[in-house]
Amino acid sequence: MATKEYQCVKIEKGEGIGWLILNRPEKRNAMSPQLHLDMADAMEELATDPEVQVMVVTGAGKSFCAGQDIQLTFRGRETASPADTRKHRAASKAWRWDKLDTFPKPTIAMVNGFCFGGAFTPLCACDYALAADEAIFGLSEVNWGILPGGIVSWNVVQVMNYRNAIYYATTGDTFDGKKAVELGVANFHYPLAQLRDETIKLAKKLMEKSPAAVRYTKEAIRAVRFMNEPQAEDYLNAKSDALKHVDKENGRQEGMRQFLDEKSYRPGLGHFKRKKKEA
Ligand code: ACO
Repeated sequence: MATKEYQCVKIEKGEGIGWLILNRPEKRNAMSPQLHLDMADAMEELATDPEVQVMVVTGAGKSFCAGQDIQLTFRGRETASPADTRKHRAASKAWRWDKLDTFPKPTIAMVNGFCFGGAFTPLCACDYALAADEAIFGLSEVNWGILPGGIVSWNVVQVMNYRNAIYYATTGDTFDGKKAVELGVANFHYPLAQLRDETIKLAKKLMEKSPAAVRYTKEAIRAVRFMNEPQAEDYLNAKSDALKHVDKENGRQEGMRQFLDEKSYRPGLGHFKRKKKEA
């Protein structure tokens, strides 16, 4: 599928991976109104592109994302028309949370450098986060007199514990990739020089699994966080039944057949052999 050109975003594709790259390196990939519009559009492209099985969100240059563009987004809003403000705010929320939260394919945040403030929303919205050891994270809002707004505070308490969320949000202290893993903000950390290869490895591992099972599983894990036990049980039963119907590869039957009849694999130790790779 042909890829569109954007002002503030770059798309690269290969080996089943769609790389969605914030592309304002000279501004450390701070999120301008135009970047929000571009990201919201680009994400739709990757969601429906059959060549893309896993999406990686990352930044050009030495930064993942330096948060909202303080000049264009915050100061700009003081003079922008209400219509423009509304449009940019909607795009900002749409790509950083709504579209990522419901993205139909696995999403990986590859944190290659600075990650500040509003960048925590897409970071937390991605299914996985891999960080460079050298990455610098910070809830820097307090440093210039605001609080982690949008939905950043809400995002942070879902990945960090309460004490750490309060500490990092009120001090603005930075932390590196290793600490990000300790805090639950990232899954793994690697030296920057290995980060891309490790990201590709994770993407390929995910591509080997049944796409329907991976998608329904991540949706289930996300949804049950906000349910009580009886709701979760009911939802998971219904979701499991739905999976049987949407899985074009009929993974459940095939998985049972290969284990019970063919004895060709052990589900505890690896996955069944898929007949076709596309979802
Ligand atoms: N908003 C607007 N411009 C920015 C931002 C930002 N968030 N981040 C960087 N820039 C701009 C700088 O103003 C500078 O522009 P200029 O070249 O026109 O002067 C350019 O990007 C490069 O920035 P430097 O500060 O020179 O780069 P350096 O590598 O030394 O530092 C760093 C990078 C640490 C990211 C620094 O720019 C910074 O602290 N940025 C702000 C980070 C932040 O607090 N973000 C949260 C914003 S609030 C929110 O998201 C809700």
